[in-house]
Amino acid sequence: MKKITINDLIKCKQEGRKFATSTAYDASFAQLFESQEMPVLLVGDSLGMVLQGKNDTLPVTVENIAYHTKMVRAGSPNCLLMSDMPFMSYATPEQACENAATLMRAGANMVKIEGGRWLVETVEKLTERAVPVCAHLGLTPQSVNIFGGYKIQGRDQEQADKMVSDALALQNAGAQIVLLECVPASLAERITKACNVPVIGIGAGNVTDGQILVMHDMFGISANYMPKFSKDFLAETGDMRKAVAKYIADVQQGTFPDDAHTIA
Ligand code: KIV
Repeated sequence: MKKITINDLIKCKQEGRKFATSTAYDASFAQLFESQEMPVLLVGDSLGMVLQGKNDTLPVTVENIAYHTKMVRAGSPNCLLMSDMPFMSYATPEQACENAATLMRAGANMVKIEGGRWLVETVEKLTERAVPVCAHLGLTPQSVNIFGGYKIQGRDQEQADKMVSDALALQNAGAQIVLLECVPASLAERITKACNVPVIGIGAGNVTDGQILVMHDMFGISANYMPKFSKDFLAETGDMRKAVAKYIADVQQGTFPDDAHTIA
């Protein structure tokens, strides 16, 4: 696989070519994903749940993410690698810059942060200092205690309008990717059309430019819970490489997620 940059994803958006992405946490799986030409990998703070067995992502530290970022980078030299900034690691723009530097030095090409308009200054500071940013909106798991659970976001008109304007504010501040989690497909479509930057969805229908899955869900091996919008591609294909190839092909063809894996 050739080295993937943000320009390749912008070209995908402009040409209407959908792309698949996945979480990854170690070198072996990163290599497997790269062998199937997965263009983007995310070292997600979901590692708190799928690797560490915790109930949520809040205990994950910058050191945890940096450790797994080094492993994933070792296995996939060519993917565009995003790394999550964990809970409270970007509470101020200054903290964000310091912690993002640790993740970029570990091998990330971009950091992902969760939240809306309050992050505008942080996104500006990071991008001015050469740290590309992905803005994660919708069901932002670090806010689980504010939401009172893992609930679909953006169902009512006011919330939906706010999410559209947050996405645009973050894009205008410099965010190079927007990621939407667990929002109605109609809202995801609005945001994807409104944004110039690539929009990646999870639980947001097949209307976004890209899709992401937590790899343990893709293989049907998550310890606690399989979200309704995820699909066990390993059960369908019986082989890990084929499962990854099928996921990528289904996303590219727009057949995943189908109606059964979409939030109306
Ligand atoms: O941490 C993670 O894996 C994520 C994905 C669910 C997008 O943020």
